[in-house]
Amino acid sequence: MEPVSKNILLFLGIPGSGKGTLAQRCCATLNYEQVSTGNLCREHVAQQTDIGKKIDLALKSGKLIDDSLITDMVLQWFSQHSEKQHVILDGYPRTVIQAEALDRFVKQSNITQPTVIYLQVDEPTVIQRLGMRLICSKTGCQAVYSLASSENGDIPSICAKCSSVLVRRPDDETAAIKKRLALYQAHEQALLECYRRLAYEISALDASRAAEDVFAALRTKLGVRS
Ligand code: AP5
Ligand code: MG
Repeated sequence: MEPVSKNILLFLGIPGSGKGTLAQRCCATLNYEQVSTGNLCREHVAQQTDIGKKIDLALKSGKLIDDSLITDMVLQWFSQHSEKQHVILDGYPRTVIQAEALDRFVKQSNITQPTVIYLQVDEPTVIQRLGMRLICSKTGCQAVYSLASSENGDIPSICAKCSSVLVRRPDDETAAIKKRLALYQAHEQALLECYRRLAYEISALDASRAAEDVFAALRTKLGVRS
């Protein structure tokens, strides 16, 4: 039986590599839906759900959240949005257990195999970026900004999309950043090996370039005309 055509991109990259920024651009112009497990976790915390109360501390300190809890969030999203054709999983899977769980779902649902978009950038660059990041405080938005745009004289203070105030993420403090980077490094190679074993296509992008150039490179990889 022919697989059900869905275009699922898995954004894999170190914290600060620009997964959210790139996903925002894909949603704005290429008709993609972003499923950010980080955003979903922050929504649970902001809304003080049972899950939110359970994960609040771990999230702030940069620890990973339980594999099955995170996978349930993603699979629930798919069950509620089965009509969506173009989906970006931003920051999921993050462990081999999650990748295998997603693969079981893909095979059971007879969906087209996902493609991995692997954002490559060095640690000093991402530490600098995370120190300058602001996000929209509205939980349903969480658009990403950077104080680096103050170079052009315009320090962002409110969200261009919904006019809510911009805030720093609690896990963008030095200790939590260190923890997140170390956890990412601990899982990256095993995840890539898992994707090779599953014969997923892996597209590496040089994410040290300007966001516009990273987006242009992705469009080229996807065969989208500018
Ligand atoms: P999550 O929210 O996914 O955080 P992360 O993986 O640490 O990644 P970030 O969101 O920090 O970075 P990004 O790559 O999206 O970069 P961004 O575009 O914002 O997860 C948070 C937490 O949730 C985890 O620590 C964990 O607790 C939990 N969690 C989530 N998923 C999980 C999972 N699957 N399993 C278990 N736990 C999970 O860009 C960063 C900054 O750089 C911005 O200011 C941006 O403007 C700027 N920037 C972006 N691109 C460029 C560029 N090309 N040039 C210059 N500046 C740029
Ligand atoms: Mg992000």
